[in-house]
Amino acid sequence: MIKAIKGTKDLLPSDAPRWHYLESVVKNIFSKFNYKEIRTPVFEVTSLFARSIGEETDIVGKEMYTFEDKGGTSVTLKPEMTAGVVRAFIEHSLGAQQSLNKLFYISPMFRQERPQAGRLRQFHQFGGEAIGSSSPLLDGELIQIAYDILKALGLKDLTVKINSLGVPETRENYKNLLREFLKDKKDKLSEDSRKRFDKNILRIFDSKIESDQKLLEGAPMLIENLDEESEKDFELVKEYLTKVNIPFEVDPKLVRGLDYYTKTTFEIISGSVGAQSALLGGGRYDLLVEQLGGKPTPAVGFAAGMERILLACENENSFTVDESAIDVYLIRIDKELEMTVCEIASGLRRAGLNIDCDYLQRSVKAQMREANKFKARFALFVGGEEFEQGNLNLKNMESGEQQNIPLDDINRIINLIKA
Ligand code: HAM
Repeated sequence: MIKAIKGTKDLLPSDAPRWHYLESVVKNIFSKFNYKEIRTPVFEVTSLFARSIGEETDIVGKEMYTFEDKGGTSVTLKPEMTAGVVRAFIEHSLGAQQSLNKLFYISPMFRQERPQAGRLRQFHQFGGEAIGSSSPLLDGELIQIAYDILKALGLKDLTVKINSLGVPETRENYKNLLREFLKDKKDKLSEDSRKRFDKNILRIFDSKIESDQKLLEGAPMLIENLDEESEKDFELVKEYLTKVNIPFEVDPKLVRGLDYYTKTTFEIISGSVGAQSALLGGGRYDLLVEQLGGKPTPAVGFAAGMERILLACENENSFTVDESAIDVYLIRIDKELEMTVCEIASGLRRAGLNIDCDYLQRSVKAQMREANKFKARFALFVGGEEFEQGNLNLKNMESGEQQNIPLDDINRIINLIKA
């Protein structure tokens, strides 16, 4: 038997109501802040990701699904959305039409990571990107959107972490400070961290290894060495969050795993999902548009892992959704009325009702079982003596109340059901 690829997941009909609910909350809250939806292709040329996320990152170095298409072009299944959104922003001159573009998305992503709870190879993100303003109030707005979505889903065990990575010059100066601090300790670092020492020293803070963290004790922190502008902006982000009642922690070690960030970075962590606890992450990326060939345009955004969020919701039992019920199940009493049932069903559907009926020649009793299974609000009996007298029998499944309605007065049935 052929099985789904490791790290991918089928979303079955029984999963769909929870996904629909999550998607509706996402769309609803983004539209409150006037964000418009953008959809970009599932694959892009590989260099787009290498140039934006960074050659030395785990994503580009180890995790991308990259292959040559038949024309010999190297293409990659998108591991994240920001690069594609910025590519589309430049390609379609969105900045010329609208000075601030506030965009949101819901899309599958692909990363060849080791699968575990909350970590998949095909997963889904929703996210937002605001391209065209350097205002730190927009950083605040995006954190608020992210937080409001998680709260609307009923999640409680949340920690908002924020940090600032400063402007590139600050960061370069700081990297030298850190290099100086770690120079004599380099040999004691783990192999991974030693590699990072040379290639991407900030990421040493991400190390999960205790001895690495011990060696970092007393290290100078970037947040204490910020340039004036980044510091001023960071203060405004904090003020915004305070004004809109979002509790947060400043985490000087929050460096993020993608290279395009400048100034504010943030994550929201859940205490109820185990090791893969980052429900979402984001930050400012003021230089990326220019790096990818556009006019200098500041921007900020975030993306959230939908599987992880649903896992947190499940563990916290934070919301329940009713399985969608149908309005009417048509019950055919006489075998020869099959086509008549289809005709009546069709009229009711075109009047806007959700209808189902039997296609397996089941007995009346079995058809009633189906009606119950689908939580039909009404059963409509077609056949028997009533039908011979020109009537249909409508049963309210909740109250048990039944009434005969003339076949030529279908509107009465519709009104009763819609009432
Ligand atoms: P990221 O931190 O790489 O950022 O991913 C964002 C979120 O996607 C994570 O916090 C996590 O919830 C989810 N995620 C990542 N990898 C996996 C996986 N393998 N399985 C399940 N969920 C996963 C970005 O992607 C940036 N593009 C965010 C951003 C947007 N920054 C600015 N704008």
